[in-house]
Amino acid sequence: MVDVRQASLGEAINRKYPESVVLIVTQDPDGITNVMPAGWSMFTSGEPLMLAISVGVSRHTHTNLERSDELVIAFPSPVQVDDLVFCRSHSGAEVDKLAESSLEPIPASEVTPPLLRKATACFECRKGPALHTGDHTIFANEVLATHVSKTYAERVKNLGREYGDGPERFNTL
Ligand SMILES: Cc1cc2nc3c(=O)[nH]c(=O)nc-3n(C[C@H](O)[C@H](O)[C@H](O)COP(=O)(O)O)c2cc1C
Repeated sequence: MVDVRQASLGEAINRKYPESVVLIVTQDPDGITNVMPAGWSMFTSGEPLMLAISVGVSRHTHTNLERSDELVIAFPSPVQVDDLVFCRSHSGAEVDKLAESSLEPIPASEVTPPLLRKATACFECRKGPALHTGDHTIFANEVLATHVSKTYAERVKNLGREYGDGPERFNTL
């Protein structure tokens, strides 16, 4: 018996979930903070510690990263799911997401973009090499400082498109 069958791209990709989600925190030259959810992230080096993200060229976050060397990568906790859905549904090109969500910024120690209170972990980063891979750019970032929540230990996972587009798509399975 052949235990493999050909499948659609969507069906095969669905097998990668659940997947951790991060919130990418950047700032524009006027100091306006933007927050973007991203599923495509990975550690790429232990020494130095490097954390890479893949950002669509059309994202406001991409524009911010072209003009700034600093960012924070936060792993949201389940209490931040509604804010995550809000940040996914709007672009920082049009909306001040911090002002219009309940996300709470707190000062970082090494970079200008803020940490997010209630995120289970925050990584302060200096932008590293960029790799243009098509409609997304991979930014590999050196981790300068790390923080964890004293209260929220769990992270948010994306269950995949088949679970919808709202909060029901995210949980801690
Ligand atoms: C679960 C999830 C994962 C996502 N992953 C990525 C990603 O890895 N890269 C990306 O460019 N956009 C990703 N997006 C889409 C962006 O979050 C979305 O386009 C956002 O509105 C962009 O915000 P900005 O224009 O303010 O930067 C993801 C969205 C969701 C809900």
